[in-house]
Amino acid sequence: MTLAITPGTFDPITFGHIDIIMRAATLMDEVIVAVAESTPKHTLFTIEERTQLAREATQHLANVTVESFDTLLVDYAQKRHANAVIKGLRAITDFEYEFQMNAMNQQLDVSLETVFIMSPPEFMYLSSSVVRELASLGGDVSKFVPACVDAALREKFASR
Ligand code: COA
Repeated sequence: MTLAITPGTFDPITFGHIDIIMRAATLMDEVIVAVAESTPKHTLFTIEERTQLAREATQHLANVTVESFDTLLVDYAQKRHANAVIKGLRAITDFEYEFQMNAMNQQLDVSLETVFIMSPPEFMYLSSSVVRELASLGGDVSKFVPACVDAALREKFASR
């Protein structure tokens, strides 16, 4: 049985992430979407909210589960006996950063493979921070995120 982890901050999950998760789910028997709790980023959504939204957004995918983690990614992958980490590559700007992350993870655990899936053109420049900014200014984000995330963003910014 093959198991992949698709890690991220998911603040919040977007159609760009879901596209990568769906494609990972066709390649592997099981996929765990791993929502990072301890991220250097100051997040808009709490770890519970980010995990719950990722769960709702992927509930139609039978071989996908969502968990949060607060350790090194390599330790989490070992604990889950994952065969690979799968990440999306968007524009060329992702490459340098992902190259560095992969090099570091390889130093920590040489057996952990990271597999990159190219994002399609429509999601090439999509990111969670763009979605957050758009939503904070009252813009329509329904083209970029599932309905549950759209609703959560509206609620978050209505209370600010
Ligand atoms: N489609 C759309 N957007 C995408 C995307 C995709 N397929 N893939 C990534 N993104 C965006 C995210 O929305 C996010 O956007 P933002 O910064 O504008 O909000 C950005 O790309 C970065 O994604 P993020 O989810 O924050 O992932 P990351 O590449 O920074 O890595 C972890 C996050 C959790 C994988 C990483 O921090 C980690 O492994 N943490 C655990 C601790 C650890 O092991 N650290 C490494 C030590 S060397």
